[in-house]
Amino acid sequence: MKENWPKLIFVTLVLSFFTFTFYLYTSTNFIYTKEYNRPIAQRGELIWQKYNCQSCHQMYGLGGYLGPDLTNIISAKGRSEAYVLALVQTGNTQMPSYNLTEDEKKELIEFLKSTDASGVSDPRSFKINLSGMITKNGK
Ligand code: HEC
Repeated sequence: MKENWPKLIFVTLVLSFFTFTFYLYTSTNFIYTKEYNRPIAQRGELIWQKYNCQSCHQMYGLGGYLGPDLTNIISAKGRSEAYVLALVQTGNTQMPSYNLTEDEKKELIEFLKSTDASGVSDPRSFKINLSGMITKNGK
């Protein structure tokens, strides 16, 4: 009987692996439903790079620290696409103003929507799910 222990542990681990894998691939809890247009968002990332927003702002916590992290600016409380565009257009005492074309505005917003759809960057609202995915307040 004693010699069966290793086998039992092995079988338990294999079964656990398959059960958890099945759960992860079939559960709908971990699907992000926020939508964005990928090709436009990709062009928007080039706008983000062209105007060097990263020198003052962070994405996923990385970048310059003069301005706030903009990963989730689109869904942040009290913020909106119109708010972002207005601020980028006019600037303020610390933030420079940018004269973007209509296309550039659209692409930049789409890029910010894509980072927003990809997860959460603010550690204060992190919740790490059973699956290891990081979501906002467990949603
Ligand atoms: C010279 C540094 C600098 C650069 C470059 C810069 N910003 Fe900013 N930005 C700031 C600062 C500082 C603030 C905070 C202003 C405040 O709170 O009054 C800010 C605020 C913002 C906000 C509002 C954030 C919030 O939570 O209210 C947005 C949106 C924004 N910037 C977008 C951009 C974009 C897009 C670019 C690139 C086109 C950019 N910024 C480039 C310094 C910069």
